[in-house]
Amino acid sequence: MAEHLARKSEASTDPRAIARAHAIYTPLMLSFYDVLVHGLSNRYAWKCPTPRLLSLYEANLTANHLEAGVGTGLFLDRAGAEFDRLVLLDINRNCLARAARRLARFAPTTCEANLLAPLAEHMAPFDSVGLTYVLHCLPGRMSEKLKAIDHLRPVMADGAVLFGATILGRGVTPNAAARTLLDLYNAKGVFNNREDDAEALAQGLNQRFATVEIERQGCVALFRAA
Ligand SMILES: C[S@@+](CC[C@H](N)C(=O)[O-])C[C@H]1O[C@@H](n2cnc3c(N)ncnc32)[C@H](O)[C@@H]1O
Repeated sequence: MAEHLARKSEASTDPRAIARAHAIYTPLMLSFYDVLVHGLSNRYAWKCPTPRLLSLYEANLTANHLEAGVGTGLFLDRAGAEFDRLVLLDINRNCLARAARRLARFAPTTCEANLLAPLAEHMAPFDSVGLTYVLHCLPGRMSEKLKAIDHLRPVMADGAVLFGATILGRGVTPNAAARTLLDLYNAKGVFNNREDDAEALAQGLNQRFATVEIERQGCVALFRAA
């Protein structure tokens, strides 16, 4: 089932950079993703254990939720929440298919869309939006990445919460494992976070929301805005 979010116009960012940022998510790679990212990298490289990210979901999910950049759907699977309406948005069909299968018990709706292009506004508003580990993938400077949030805001209800996390490339002290992964992923265009720091994230969120909370854990910035 697909909830249609048509693009109103094309994204201004280089389409090849946008494609490189998600091309890695093949069905085979997604079968290793949870172990690689949430099992190993979070703990040993980024120094932000997955239970910390999960607690962000447990605290902020509502029954009317949009997950933007869904990956394998791990957090929604594990958070213990119930949904009246769950929409999974991603540019990558493999992610949508895998997450929708995993979360089938919630009868999710899927939406294939590029967060760097405006979304159609006919979608009924959501009470919570998750955006985890997406910003560090998106090409461009923080100000350009945060256009993704500008595209999500029209589908947020009054008082809705946006929450998530992103791996920073600046102002952090990565260990050897993190440095290796940052080098590798940035070289491949899977990450584009060399210039991302907590200050730029805070500034961008504060420009857009009345209430902003940002917490640093290792190389990761966890955020909540309403
Ligand atoms: C690193 S994964 C994070 C997945 C999941 N949120 C998690 O924390 O495990 C990044 C996700 O963002 C999606 N993505 C990357 N670029 C995107 C874009 N321009 N628009 C929408 N989704 C995008 C990818 O396909 C992938 O599902």
